[in-house]
Amino acid sequence: MTEFTLKSPLDMHIHFREGDMLKLVAPLSAASFAGGVIMPNLVPPVDSIERLVSYQNDISDAISSHEFEPFMTLFLKEYSLELLKSAKDKIIGIKLYPEGATTNSEGGVASIEAAKETLQIMSDLEIPLLVHGENPDAFVMDREKDFLKQYHELATEFPKLKIVMEHITTAEAVALLDEYENLYATVTLQHLLITLDDVAGGLLNPHLFCKPIAKRPEDRDALLNAALTAHPKLMFGSDSAPHPLHKKECCGCAAGVFTAPIALQILVELFEKHDALDKLQDFISDNAIRNYEIDVPDTTVNFVKKEFVIPDKYGDVVPMYAGQTIAWSIDG
Ligand code: NCD
Ligand code: ZN
Repeated sequence: MTEFTLKSPLDMHIHFREGDMLKLVAPLSAASFAGGVIMPNLVPPVDSIERLVSYQNDISDAISSHEFEPFMTLFLKEYSLELLKSAKDKIIGIKLYPEGATTNSEGGVASIEAAKETLQIMSDLEIPLLVHGENPDAFVMDREKDFLKQYHELATEFPKLKIVMEHITTAEAVALLDEYENLYATVTLQHLLITLDDVAGGLLNPHLFCKPIAKRPEDRDALLNAALTAHPKLMFGSDSAPHPLHKKECCGCAAGVFTAPIALQILVELFEKHDALDKLQDFISDNAIRNYEIDVPDTTVNFVKKEFVIPDKYGDVVPMYAGQTIAWSIDG
């Protein structure tokens, strides 16, 4: 049987939530990923060291015996030098949410101007900035494109600050990676596969609805090409964002696609289809290790070319492509 192995796969953008949802989803990621960048958009957000440490403890309890490194993030607000000095060793970066851009971002940054002092301290202390790059006031399809000028401004004004454009969805954002040395990006599984047509072109599919919304075929193709060629500044970040079924299959559907337990198998299938399996190790782990300069647990995941039917649900959460059959399974 055809086999394939990945070393220390990493998910550089993941939502673990809290309480019962954390207990459900964290082990599903930790079963195959060696580490992940944990998003801070809880209610209330992770914006103090006490909250960060207690959240990290909850994550450690939830993943129990799995070998998984949670790379923690703080929610960006104005922070003092003293606080950031003591936070530095506990975090991989700080996440900027424009106010109201997505799920639980109400306390986000009203203007980048207001955050500049904190950004300068982050630059001095070498703490990366992770960005939800959408302008919430723009038309929904243009929110990322409209934010690109802010990336220009940030990258120019803080040339020593590592800036990660999270979950990019446009060809323009891919092109920006080559314009500034200090810009990096993550891309999700769904944005490598789908366009807005899959979400709303026929019958509405709430399980493919997320922020930023999936875009045009040419955007998807640019993202896919950058992933399949293992662009050195592009990293995998699933943005797996679980919501209970009643928050998805309803009027007022929450944004977020749940992919954590199936992402690796689908990526293997996708990279094999494009004859690019030799690029997957860089995309899924090595690029992130180099870009963030991190140490990660030494794990291996073996895949076999054996059909796998994606479950209809994990607990109360419906995954992307529920019920569909894919070509690869995780062995063991
Ligand atoms: C995320 C969530 O549910 O927390 N939703 C989403 O659509 N991606 C928030 C986010 O990353 O934007
Ligand atoms: Zn996210």
